[in-house]
Amino acid sequence: MTQGTRIFFAVFVIIIISLIAGVFLFSYRVTHDAVEQRTSVSSGAAAIGGPFQLVDTTNTPVTEANFQGKLQLVYFGFTFCPDICPTDLLVISNVMEKLGADAENVKPIFITVDPERDTPEHLKTYMENFSPTITALTGSPEAIAAVAKEYKVYYKRIDDGKTKDYLVDHTAIKYLMDRNGQFITHFPAGTDVDVIVKKIKEVM
Ligand code: NI
Repeated sequence: MTQGTRIFFAVFVIIIISLIAGVFLFSYRVTHDAVEQRTSVSSGAAAIGGPFQLVDTTNTPVTEANFQGKLQLVYFGFTFCPDICPTDLLVISNVMEKLGADAENVKPIFITVDPERDTPEHLKTYMENFSPTITALTGSPEAIAAVAKEYKVYYKRIDDGKTKDYLVDHTAIKYLMDRNGQFITHFPAGTDVDVIVKKIKEVM
């Protein structure tokens, strides 16, 4: 090799190495960013929902594992609620009806924030007004407080402590959870039935 060929060859090798390093670094960054994005999304998802131990209207113990494999529409409220809760439970009933055959892949869950009055027996009677697909849950005040905290649901009894006719101020959000109980999205009170049906079919 002449001096000129050697220099040309050396420069050629340096360019090739730089190109390979560049491609490697670029692809590492792309993958790394993607992993970081996925991690932040899943840690955000982990912030809503979680395990619970409650009972259904037949006083049978129920945990989050009972609903694995179905999309879950989770709603917190209380049966003595004068307007918002019955309206939302009707919306959920209509959603289930509009889903048609897809309804069998969706489990609506109603969790009371008034376990003192919403006994299994009382819940059972109340739920006869709505879609039989909805599973209504109650439990000890501690168990309800724990699950409400997981779902970031606020609730507060509004009363003087003397009367039975108190109200419970509460978050009225419908949560859509995936088949593993991980948060997908939420629907505020007043969300149209069709909007909820469309979203559920989208993620199905
Ligand atoms: Ni309510």
